[in-house]
Amino acid sequence: MSDKPTLTTTAGAPLPDNQNSITAGPRGGVMIQDYQLIEKLAHQNRERIPERVVHAKGWGAFGTLKITGDISKYTKAKCLQPGAETPMLARFSTVAGELGAADAERDVRGFALKFYTEDGNWDLVGNNTPVFFVRDPYKFPDFIHTQKRHPRTNLRSPKAMWDFWSLSPESLHQVTILMSDRGIPVDPTFMNGYGSHTYSFWNDAGERFWVKFHFKTEQGHKHYVNEEAEKLIGKSRETYQEALFDKVETGQYPRWKVQVQIMPESDTGKTPYNPFDLTKVWPHSDYPPIDIGVMELNRNADNYFAEIEQAAFSPSNIVPGISHSPDKMLQARIFSYADAHRYRLGTHYEALPVNAPKCPVHHYHKDGQMNFFGQKTGATDAYYEPNSMGGAVEDKSAMEPPLNIEGAMARYNHREGNDDFSQPRALFELFDDGQKSRLFDNIAAAMGGVPGEIIERQLALFKQVHPDYEAGVRAALKEAHGYEANAISTPGTQSAAE
Ligand code: NDP
Ligand code: HEM
Repeated sequence: MSDKPTLTTTAGAPLPDNQNSITAGPRGGVMIQDYQLIEKLAHQNRERIPERVVHAKGWGAFGTLKITGDISKYTKAKCLQPGAETPMLARFSTVAGELGAADAERDVRGFALKFYTEDGNWDLVGNNTPVFFVRDPYKFPDFIHTQKRHPRTNLRSPKAMWDFWSLSPESLHQVTILMSDRGIPVDPTFMNGYGSHTYSFWNDAGERFWVKFHFKTEQGHKHYVNEEAEKLIGKSRETYQEALFDKVETGQYPRWKVQVQIMPESDTGKTPYNPFDLTKVWPHSDYPPIDIGVMELNRNADNYFAEIEQAAFSPSNIVPGISHSPDKMLQARIFSYADAHRYRLGTHYEALPVNAPKCPVHHYHKDGQMNFFGQKTGATDAYYEPNSMGGAVEDKSAMEPPLNIEGAMARYNHREGNDDFSQPRALFELFDDGQKSRLFDNIAAAMGGVPGEIIERQLALFKQVHPDYEAGVRAALKEAHGYEANAISTPGTQSAAE
């Protein structure tokens, strides 16, 4: 007898042969009764699930959120009280690339966090940038289409990207960050994370505060310039997976300082910018960041597919003391993620071990595909609510304070009366000469093959941010592509121009 475990069928019966199919004579053919052959082939055909429609390529690890500061006057969230330690999962990702994309590509990085709190899962599904390309969720699918493949060439299309951006001035802030040094972090440990949206805190007294979350890298910022990244991708497409896995495996645990910016509810309407506009930050001088703790990643997943690929994050997952805000983008995301998970993973995605809360769960949802957990109502005969069988009941202490909203229902032009230039200008003015020159070069490089009409429209936007921005990109375009004002196009492949 071997001391190794016995190989069995999925039904648990011992399997006598895992090398040879059942055949009629040694040369075949194979018998349809070879159920284990059919089982093996059928399972293989079902090994892939749809990749995430965005943020498909990702790298993750588990860790802990430790709270050291005291923000109890703002929030009753148990996981944010002084001394609280909460197990968590982080998944970092690129946005546009597919599952097989190279890690070191210029792109925004996802920074998705799931905190397994005693009051249920709190997900903060952010990016490594504090702002986003669009401010109305109506435009999100259009924007993402410009980042994905052209329907005819099946190639990424710089023309589509710059066409959309040049017609959407609200994207300037995010485009400037994307094309800056921070557009290609060396690995996920060398970048900040941001909740990006305005969320809210509420306390036991029923007071609400608006809040922004920041995760500042303790490893420092490290980035690649385009040439370094291009060389690297030639050698390995998996540099983020390698780096994150190795650091966690060898005890070099990456850490982020956790900060919040707090705005009293009464300040709504008093700031020169809309505090719920995802294309804007709150300047630190107006709302200084407050240190509240540290996030550390210290455990690798044992199975990438089960724990990282099947992880399902959603901005709808909040816990008492933390809530949403009137940010239009956030509100659309509250719907979109659970909908995506039901399609990608299945009805009961929340019961998968990586997504399952680490606290008791009671609800009256019934049956459905892959319901392996039976009834979750807290009492055997209770399968509806209200009931007199002792089933789970609501908890009014989890009710957030009421929010005043007003206004006539209409499709308001979100581009009217919005200053899309001051904040990108503040960022541009932070850059030293080297950073500015790399910004110009990165933009010029990304514009290969783009028609002159689109380039001029984009240059006019850069000019409104700062005349030096426009002049710098124009000079870099000339240097990189010999581009002259109003030329028909920069040289580039025809396919890039599609
Ligand atoms: P501050 O001078 O107080 O802060 C500047 C911020 O810019 C820092 O958070 C810094 O991050 C960050 N930063 C530096 N280089 C880059 C880059 N290439 N891409 C993205 N962020 C970068 O300024 P303000 O608060 O007045 O904001 C000025 C501008 O800074 C904003 O318009 C915005 O573009 C940018 N910014 C502001 C943030 C905010 O929450 N206020 C957050 C991030 C960026 P770090 O501290 O890690 O070096
Ligand atoms: C992933 C929708 C904006 C960060 C996704 C997914 C969808 C989606 C459908 C795939 C989910 C999955 O299959 O698991 C949207 C919509 C948006 C929006 C409709 C705007 C209306 C944003 C913004 C951010 C963001 C503003 C960051 C601030 C992420 C991240 C992931 C993701 C990090 C990957 C999560 C993971 O690691 O599994 N988004 N998104 N998204 N999105 Fe968004």
